[in-house]
Amino acid sequence: MIMAFGKNARKVLLVLMVMCATSTAKRPAAKEEAAPAPAPEAGASEASGARGIFDITNVGATSDGKTDCSKELQEAWKSACGAAGQATVLIPKGEFLAGPLNFSGPCKGDVTIHIDGTLLGTNDLPKYNGGSWINILKVNNLVITGSGTIDGQGANVYTKDPAEAKAFPNSLVLDFVKNGTVSGITLLNSKFFHMNIYMSEDVKIENLTITAPGDSPNTDGIHIGDSTNINVTDTTIGTGDDCISIGGGSSHIIVTGVTCGPGQGISVGCLGRYKDEKDVSDVTVKDCVLRSSTNGVRVKTYENAVKSITASKLTFENIKMEDVANPIIIDQNYCPEKVCTAKSKSAVTVKDVIFRNITGTSSTPAAVSLLCSDKQPCSGVELIDVNVEYSGENNKTIGVCNNAKGTAKDTLQALACLA
Ligand SMILES: *[C@@H]1O[C@H](CO)[C@@H](O)[C@H](O)[C@H]1NC(C)=O
Ligand SMILES: *[C@@H]1O[C@H](CO)[C@@H](O)[C@H](O)[C@H]1NC(C)=O
Ligand SMILES: *[C@@H]1O[C@H](CO)[C@@H](O)[C@H](O)[C@H]1NC(C)=O
Ligand SMILES: *[C@@H]1O[C@H](CO)[C@@H](O)[C@H](O)[C@H]1NC(C)=O
Ligand SMILES: *[C@@H]1O[C@H](CO)[C@@H](O)[C@H](O)[C@H]1NC(C)=O
Ligand SMILES: *[C@@H]1O[C@H](CO)[C@@H](O)[C@H](O)[C@H]1NC(C)=O
Repeated sequence: MIMAFGKNARKVLLVLMVMCATSTAKRPAAKEEAAPAPAPEAGASEASGARGIFDITNVGATSDGKTDCSKELQEAWKSACGAAGQATVLIPKGEFLAGPLNFSGPCKGDVTIHIDGTLLGTNDLPKYNGGSWINILKVNNLVITGSGTIDGQGANVYTKDPAEAKAFPNSLVLDFVKNGTVSGITLLNSKFFHMNIYMSEDVKIENLTITAPGDSPNTDGIHIGDSTNINVTDTTIGTGDDCISIGGGSSHIIVTGVTCGPGQGISVGCLGRYKDEKDVSDVTVKDCVLRSSTNGVRVKTYENAVKSITASKLTFENIKMEDVANPIIIDQNYCPEKVCTAKSKSAVTVKDVIFRNITGTSSTPAAVSLLCSDKQPCSGVELIDVNVEYSGENNKTIGVCNNAKGTAKDTLQALACLA
């Protein structure tokens, strides 16, 4: 595709942002930490049931999947967030249609959102006004749980013009959340990312199911950016984009027990796209299975990086690959729309990356691709017990390394390409 700059330049950049799996467009305006503001009034809501349970059907939400329940959900949130002690917003069994929800704190006590039914994201796109669907903002001690489903009803937008795609809503957003748990629920067919975690700390995500068609654009499972101490555990993700992507400013991220596929794998990056990006460090991806995904474990940095940042202390271990196209990949020349002007000028340093005990099969011969730039070679890369073999016929498994420095141990000879 040849795109002229000028009139279309902005659109191209917006598409790139999308391709980079970074939802800057959806960042909140306020970047500062939430000041401990006064808690909202504990309004004597009619939703107030016994023992701090705020059931949305008690304030008139209709479970027919057709009547918009945004107002009732918002009212239940307001009551729960304003209540002292433990309060629960209850979404019982049934289908509840809703537009954008603003679940903002700080809250007076600790709030749980318990979802047993199905929340359906409205297909009336102008209602989102370019923002996300379920917005949880500045909430401490948050719990989201239940056996219910957050259904973005994305099929409505998957076929639309990619230039429009930046305006589609993420399904579930956690911004400035401290000490949170999200467990049990299913996230289905998001219009954009299923979950976006931004400027948050101490969040545990476990036992989720995230599902969208393998060809649905930009439907990343979980994107994490500018956040610390985030664990994703025992979760099954199959979507049309990255299962999990870890963006700039993230540290102490642990991903364990994740099954990914279809999708584009588990990625650190893309990095280097924005001026305000910060370093990434201490990322561990462990005990995961990648199944028929286009990538396995990947570090991707933007070819035309605008900011010098470092991605370091990244560990990928005990990973099983099942017919993955690019099982192990570092790509410092990432430029999805091919509009990068300066070649190999990456300003992102990638160092101390360990790939340990990675086995299984690759659907292309290059089971290992460590494609680093000549200006910023990757260093401290370790391949330990890496034995992934090409599953096809008439070719040999190979490792391809450019400017990648480090050591290999107990690794398939053909993959040990490090300098
Ligand atoms: C969300 O609610 C909070 C608190 O009620 C308010 O300050 C904020 O302006 C709202 N945001 C939007 C986008 O409506
Ligand atoms: C974290 O949140 C949970 C759930 O609300 C709460 O029980 C726990 O006390 C919180 N932990 C801290 C350290 O505040
Ligand atoms: C996982 O979540 C489901 C509900 O979706 C629940 O029934 C199950 O008990 C949970 N498993 C664990 C190990 O917590
Ligand atoms: C994440 O897991 C690590 C290691 O088990 C633990 O130290 C940390 O407290 C966990 N963080 C959260 C938010 O659960
Ligand atoms: C290697 O990883 C596999 C999972 O892919 C795990 O079952 C096995 O125990 C690991 N081996 C060691 C020595 O940790
Ligand atoms: C074998 O691999 C080489 C190098 O990746 C490639 O150029 C060639 O097309 C492959 N042949 C087949 C039959 O896949």
